[in-house]
Amino acid sequence: MQPFANRECVTRVLEGAILGNMFFEPSTRTRVSFGCAWNLLGGEVRETAEIKTSAIAKGESFYDTARVLSGYSDVIVMRHQTEGSVEEFASASRVPVINGGDGSNEHPSQALLDLYTIRKEVSDLGKGVDNLRIALIGDLRFGRAVHSLCRLLSLYDSVHFTLVSPPELSLGEEYVKAIQEAGHEVVESTDLHDGISHADILYVTRTQEERFPNQKEAEKYKGLFRLNQSIYTEYCEPNTVIMHPLPRDSRGNANELDNDLNENPNLAIFRQTDNGVLIRMALFSLILDVADNIQESAKDVGWYTAKRF
Ligand code: NCD
Repeated sequence: MQPFANRECVTRVLEGAILGNMFFEPSTRTRVSFGCAWNLLGGEVRETAEIKTSAIAKGESFYDTARVLSGYSDVIVMRHQTEGSVEEFASASRVPVINGGDGSNEHPSQALLDLYTIRKEVSDLGKGVDNLRIALIGDLRFGRAVHSLCRLLSLYDSVHFTLVSPPELSLGEEYVKAIQEAGHEVVESTDLHDGISHADILYVTRTQEERFPNQKEAEKYKGLFRLNQSIYTEYCEPNTVIMHPLPRDSRGNANELDNDLNENPNLAIFRQTDNGVLIRMALFSLILDVADNIQESAKDVGWYTAKRF
Protein backbone atom coordinates (compact mmCIF):
# COMPACT_ATOMS: atom_id res chain seq x y z
CA MET A 1 0.00 0.00 0.00
CA GLN A 2 2.97 2.28 0.55
CA PRO A 3 3.44 3.55 -3.06
CA PHE A 4 -0.26 4.44 -3.13
CA ALA A 5 -0.27 6.20 0.22
CA ASN A 6 2.91 7.97 -0.90
CA ARG A 7 1.18 9.16 -4.11
CA GLU A 8 3.68 7.41 -6.36
CA CYS A 9 0.86 5.59 -8.10
CA VAL A 10 -2.93 5.42 -8.10
CA THR A 11 -5.42 2.59 -8.27
CA ARG A 12 -9.19 2.55 -8.86
CA VAL A 13 -9.97 -0.95 -7.56
CA LEU A 14 -12.85 0.40 -5.45
CA GLU A 15 -14.28 2.62 -8.19
CA GLY A 16 -18.03 2.97 -7.53
CA ALA A 17 -17.84 1.62 -3.97
CA ILE A 18 -19.16 3.74 -1.10
CA LEU A 19 -17.82 3.98 2.45
CA GLY A 20 -20.25 5.05 5.18
CA ASN A 21 -17.98 6.86 7.66
CA MET A 22 -20.06 7.39 10.81
CA PHE A 23 -18.30 9.24 13.58
CA PHE A 24 -20.50 10.10 16.53
CA GLU A 25 -17.50 11.15 18.66
CA PRO A 26 -14.70 13.63 17.90
CA SER A 27 -12.04 12.23 15.58
CA THR A 28 -9.30 13.59 13.34
CA ARG A 29 -6.92 10.74 12.49
CA THR A 30 -9.25 7.77 12.45
CA ARG A 31 -12.03 9.46 10.49
CA VAL A 32 -9.81 11.17 7.93
CA SER A 33 -7.40 8.28 7.42
CA PHE A 34 -10.23 5.78 6.91
CA GLY A 35 -11.71 8.21 4.37
CA CYS A 36 -8.35 8.78 2.63
CA ALA A 37 -7.60 5.06 2.56
CA TRP A 38 -10.92 4.42 0.83
CA ASN A 39 -10.37 7.32 -1.61
CA LEU A 40 -6.85 6.10 -2.41
CA LEU A 41 -8.40 2.79 -3.47
CA GLY A 42 -10.75 4.71 -5.78
CA GLY A 43 -13.98 4.73 -3.72
CA GLU A 44 -16.34 7.50 -2.56
CA VAL A 45 -16.90 8.46 1.09
CA ARG A 46 -20.18 9.54 2.72
CA GLU A 47 -19.72 11.00 6.18
CA THR A 48 -22.09 11.28 9.10
CA ALA A 49 -20.50 13.27 11.87
CA GLU A 50 -22.33 13.99 15.15
CA ILE A 51 -25.48 12.33 16.38
CA LYS A 52 -27.47 15.54 15.98
CA THR A 53 -27.18 15.32 12.18
CA SER A 54 -28.51 11.75 12.16
CA ALA A 55 -32.00 10.37 12.85
CA ILE A 56 -30.59 8.68 15.97
CA ALA A 57 -31.27 12.11 17.51
CA LYS A 58 -34.99 11.51 16.72
CA GLY A 59 -34.96 8.22 18.61
CA GLU A 60 -34.13 5.88 15.74
CA SER A 61 -32.57 2.61 16.92
CA PHE A 62 -29.17 1.29 15.87
CA TYR A 63 -31.04 -1.59 14.24
CA ASP A 64 -33.03 0.67 11.91
CA THR A 65 -30.10 3.00 11.20
CA ALA A 66 -27.89 0.03 10.38
CA ARG A 67 -30.50 -1.52 8.07
CA VAL A 68 -30.89 1.79 6.24
CA LEU A 69 -27.24 2.84 5.93
CA SER A 70 -26.05 -0.61 4.94
CA GLY A 71 -28.28 -0.25 1.89
CA TYR A 72 -26.29 2.83 0.88
CA SER A 73 -22.72 1.65 1.58
CA ASP A 74 -20.32 -1.22 0.87
CA VAL A 75 -18.50 -0.91 4.20
CA ILE A 76 -19.32 1.15 7.30
CA VAL A 77 -16.82 2.52 9.81
CA MET A 78 -18.42 3.60 13.04
CA ARG A 79 -17.27 5.38 16.20
CA HIS A 80 -19.63 5.89 19.11
CA GLN A 81 -19.30 6.78 22.78
CA THR A 82 -21.07 3.65 24.08
CA GLU A 83 -19.25 0.38 24.71
CA GLY A 84 -20.72 -2.40 22.56
CA SER A 85 -22.59 0.04 20.27
CA VAL A 86 -20.62 -0.88 17.16
CA GLU A 87 -21.21 -4.58 17.73
CA GLU A 88 -24.94 -3.96 18.12
CA PHE A 89 -24.96 -1.87 14.94
CA ALA A 90 -22.94 -4.50 13.04
CA SER A 91 -25.35 -7.26 13.95
CA ALA A 92 -28.10 -5.42 12.02
CA SER A 93 -25.92 -4.24 9.14
CA ARG A 94 -25.98 -5.95 5.77
CA VAL A 95 -22.38 -4.91 5.02
CA PRO A 96 -19.14 -5.23 7.02
CA VAL A 97 -18.77 -2.75 9.90
CA ILE A 98 -15.37 -1.70 11.26
CA ASN A 99 -15.11 -0.48 14.83
CA GLY A 100 -13.55 2.99 14.82
CA GLY A 101 -13.74 3.09 18.65
CA ASP A 102 -16.64 2.21 20.96
CA GLY A 103 -16.46 4.17 24.19
CA SER A 104 -13.68 2.97 26.45
CA ASN A 105 -13.91 -0.55 25.05
CA GLU A 106 -11.86 -1.19 21.91
CA HIS A 107 -10.17 0.52 18.98
CA PRO A 108 -8.93 -2.35 16.83
CA SER A 109 -7.71 -0.53 13.70
CA GLN A 110 -5.58 1.72 15.92
CA ALA A 111 -4.02 -1.41 17.41
CA LEU A 112 -3.23 -2.75 13.94
CA LEU A 113 -1.46 0.45 12.95
CA ASP A 114 0.33 0.55 16.29
CA LEU A 115 1.49 -3.04 15.86
CA TYR A 116 2.67 -2.28 12.31
CA THR A 117 4.55 0.76 13.64
CA ILE A 118 6.12 -1.22 16.49
CA ARG A 119 7.27 -3.94 14.09
CA LYS A 120 8.83 -1.38 11.76
CA GLU A 121 10.47 0.68 14.47
CA VAL A 122 11.99 -2.26 16.35
CA SER A 123 13.07 -4.07 13.20
CA ASP A 124 15.18 -1.00 12.39
CA LEU A 125 16.87 -1.72 15.74
CA GLY A 126 17.34 -5.41 14.90
CA LYS A 127 14.51 -6.58 17.19
CA GLY A 128 11.11 -8.20 16.80
CA VAL A 129 7.80 -8.14 18.68
CA ASP A 130 8.59 -11.38 20.52
CA ASN A 131 10.44 -10.44 23.73
CA LEU A 132 9.40 -6.79 23.30
CA ARG A 133 9.49 -4.57 26.38
CA ILE A 134 6.65 -2.06 26.26
CA ALA A 135 5.68 0.53 28.86
CA LEU A 136 2.05 1.68 28.61
CA ILE A 137 1.64 5.00 30.37
CA GLY A 138 -1.33 7.09 31.51
CA ASP A 139 -5.04 6.37 31.44
CA LEU A 140 -5.04 2.60 30.93
CA ARG A 141 -8.54 2.23 32.34
CA PHE A 142 -10.46 4.22 29.74
CA GLY A 143 -7.89 4.17 26.91
CA ARG A 144 -9.43 1.94 24.24
CA ALA A 145 -6.30 2.09 22.05
CA VAL A 146 -4.36 0.47 24.91
CA HIS A 147 -7.00 -2.23 25.35
CA SER A 148 -6.86 -3.32 21.73
CA LEU A 149 -3.06 -3.09 21.58
CA CYS A 150 -2.72 -5.36 24.62
CA ARG A 151 -4.88 -7.97 22.90
CA LEU A 152 -2.78 -7.90 19.75
CA LEU A 153 0.59 -7.96 21.50
CA SER A 154 -0.61 -10.92 23.56
CA LEU A 155 -0.58 -12.98 20.35
CA TYR A 156 3.23 -12.78 20.32
CA ASP A 157 5.74 -14.51 22.64
CA SER A 158 7.19 -13.25 25.90
CA VAL A 159 6.20 -9.61 25.75
CA HIS A 160 7.08 -7.66 28.89
CA PHE A 161 4.37 -5.16 29.81
CA THR A 162 5.05 -2.33 32.26
CA LEU A 163 1.81 -0.57 33.15
CA VAL A 164 2.34 2.95 34.50
CA SER A 165 -0.81 4.67 35.74
CA PRO A 166 -2.41 6.11 38.83
CA PRO A 167 -4.13 3.22 40.70
CA GLU A 168 -7.58 4.60 39.81
CA LEU A 169 -6.77 4.48 36.08
CA SER A 170 -5.02 1.12 35.99
CA LEU A 171 -5.63 -1.42 33.24
CA GLY A 172 -8.80 -3.45 33.87
CA GLU A 173 -8.31 -6.77 35.58
CA GLU A 174 -9.75 -8.72 32.64
CA TYR A 175 -7.06 -7.31 30.33
CA VAL A 176 -4.24 -7.97 32.83
CA LYS A 177 -5.49 -11.52 33.31
CA ALA A 178 -5.70 -12.16 29.58
CA ILE A 179 -2.13 -10.91 29.06
CA GLN A 180 -0.83 -13.08 31.88
CA GLU A 181 -2.76 -16.13 30.74
CA ALA A 182 -1.16 -15.73 27.32
CA GLY A 183 2.20 -16.15 29.08
CA HIS A 184 3.48 -12.58 29.28
CA GLU A 185 4.97 -10.70 32.17
CA VAL A 186 3.08 -7.73 33.64
CA VAL A 187 4.58 -5.22 36.06
CA GLU A 188 2.38 -2.44 37.40
CA SER A 189 3.94 0.80 38.58
CA THR A 190 2.99 4.30 39.64
CA ASP A 191 6.48 5.63 38.97
CA LEU A 192 7.17 7.05 35.51
CA HIS A 193 10.96 7.09 35.79
CA ASP A 194 11.12 3.51 36.91
CA GLY A 195 8.57 2.40 34.32
CA ILE A 196 10.35 3.89 31.30
CA SER A 197 13.89 2.88 32.17
CA HIS A 198 13.99 -0.59 30.56
CA ALA A 199 11.64 -0.41 27.60
CA ASP A 200 11.89 -0.69 23.82
CA ILE A 201 8.59 1.16 23.34
CA LEU A 202 6.93 3.86 25.44
CA TYR A 203 3.22 4.09 24.63
CA VAL A 204 1.97 7.31 26.21
CA THR A 205 -1.75 8.12 26.46
CA ARG A 206 -3.97 11.07 27.28
CA THR A 207 -6.35 11.21 30.25
CA GLN A 208 -9.66 10.30 28.57
CA GLU A 209 -11.50 13.23 30.15
CA GLU A 210 -14.71 12.54 28.20
CA ARG A 211 -15.13 9.25 30.08
CA PHE A 212 -15.15 10.85 33.55
CA PRO A 213 -18.36 11.82 35.33
CA ASN A 214 -17.16 15.42 35.47
CA GLN A 215 -14.27 17.62 34.39
CA LYS A 216 -13.06 18.17 37.97
CA GLU A 217 -12.52 14.46 38.43
CA ALA A 218 -10.51 14.22 35.18
CA GLU A 219 -8.33 17.18 36.15
CA LYS A 220 -6.97 15.21 39.12
CA TYR A 221 -5.14 12.85 36.77
CA LYS A 222 -3.86 15.25 34.14
CA GLY A 223 -0.16 16.05 34.25
CA LEU A 224 0.72 13.20 36.61
CA PHE A 225 3.00 11.55 34.07
CA ARG A 226 4.77 13.90 31.70
CA LEU A 227 7.47 12.79 29.32
CA ASN A 228 9.89 15.39 28.02
CA GLN A 229 13.37 15.37 26.50
CA SER A 230 15.29 15.75 29.76
CA ILE A 231 13.41 12.87 31.42
CA TYR A 232 13.90 10.80 28.27
CA THR A 233 17.65 11.50 28.24
CA GLU A 234 18.05 10.75 31.94
CA TYR A 235 15.96 7.58 32.27
CA CYS A 236 15.49 5.86 28.89
CA GLU A 237 17.81 3.49 27.10
CA PRO A 238 19.17 4.92 23.83
CA ASN A 239 16.72 4.55 20.92
CA THR A 240 13.67 3.86 23.06
CA VAL A 241 10.76 4.49 20.69
CA ILE A 242 8.07 6.95 21.81
CA MET A 243 4.49 6.34 20.65
CA HIS A 244 1.09 7.89 21.41
CA PRO A 245 -2.23 7.17 19.69
CA LEU A 246 -2.81 10.94 19.64
CA PRO A 247 -4.27 13.44 20.21
CA ARG A 248 -1.71 14.42 22.83
CA ASP A 249 -3.17 16.92 25.25
CA SER A 250 -0.79 19.85 24.83
CA ARG A 251 -2.55 22.11 27.34
CA GLY A 252 -0.32 23.22 30.21
CA ASN A 253 -2.14 21.24 32.89
CA ALA A 254 -1.75 17.97 30.96
CA ASN A 255 1.12 17.91 28.44
CA GLU A 256 1.85 14.19 28.77
CA LEU A 257 4.21 14.30 25.78
CA ASP A 258 6.16 17.54 25.56
CA ASN A 259 6.76 19.42 22.31
CA ASP A 260 10.47 19.49 23.14
CA LEU A 261 10.53 15.86 21.95
CA ASN A 262 9.43 16.86 18.44
CA GLU A 263 12.93 16.67 16.97
CA ASN A 264 13.79 13.44 18.78
CA PRO A 265 14.25 10.86 15.98
CA ASN A 266 12.75 8.18 18.22
CA LEU A 267 9.44 10.03 18.42
CA ALA A 268 7.29 7.82 16.18
CA ILE A 269 3.92 9.56 16.62
CA PHE A 270 3.70 10.97 13.11
CA ARG A 271 5.00 7.76 11.57
CA GLN A 272 2.10 6.11 13.44
CA THR A 273 -0.42 8.49 11.87
CA ASP A 274 1.07 7.97 8.39
CA ASN A 275 0.90 4.21 8.89
CA GLY A 276 -2.82 4.53 9.65
CA VAL A 277 -3.53 5.09 5.96
CA LEU A 278 -1.60 2.00 4.82
CA ILE A 279 -3.20 -0.22 7.42
CA ARG A 280 -6.71 0.98 6.63
CA MET A 281 -6.13 0.53 2.88
CA ALA A 282 -4.96 -3.01 3.62
CA LEU A 283 -8.03 -3.65 5.78
CA PHE A 284 -10.42 -2.48 3.08
CA SER A 285 -8.70 -4.42 0.33
CA LEU A 286 -8.80 -7.63 2.37
CA ILE A 287 -12.43 -7.16 3.42
CA LEU A 288 -13.53 -6.42 -0.17
CA ASP A 289 -11.19 -9.01 -1.68
CA VAL A 290 -9.34 -6.71 -4.06
CA ALA A 291 -5.81 -7.11 -2.65
CA ASP A 292 -4.65 -9.10 -5.67
CA ASN A 293 -6.00 -6.59 -8.21
CA ILE A 294 -4.31 -3.49 -6.86
CA GLN A 295 -0.91 -3.88 -8.42
CA GLU A 296 -2.15 -4.80 -11.88
CA SER A 297 -4.41 -1.74 -12.08
CA ALA A 298 -1.76 0.67 -10.74
CA LYS A 299 -0.92 3.81 -12.74
CA ASP A 300 1.80 6.40 -12.12
CA VAL A 301 0.57 9.75 -10.82
CA GLY A 302 0.93 12.80 -13.03
CA TRP A 303 1.33 15.52 -10.40
CA TYR A 304 4.18 16.68 -8.20
CA THR A 305 4.27 14.52 -5.08
CA ALA A 306 6.01 15.50 -1.88
CA LYS A 307 8.04 12.75 -0.20
CA ARG A 308 6.01 11.46 2.73
CA PHE A 309 7.68 8.22 3.79
C1 NCD B 1 -7.60 7.61 20.39
C2 NCD B 1 -9.08 7.33 20.53
O1 NCD B 1 -9.92 8.02 19.95
O2 NCD B 1 -9.35 6.38 21.23
N1 NCD B 1 -7.29 8.40 19.30
C3 NCD B 1 -7.22 7.87 18.04
O3 NCD B 1 -8.17 7.32 17.53
N2 NCD B 1 -6.05 7.96 17.39
C4 NCD B 1 -6.96 8.04 21.64
C5 NCD B 1 -7.48 9.23 22.38
O4 NCD B 1 -8.49 9.84 22.01
O5 NCD B 1 -6.86 9.58 23.38
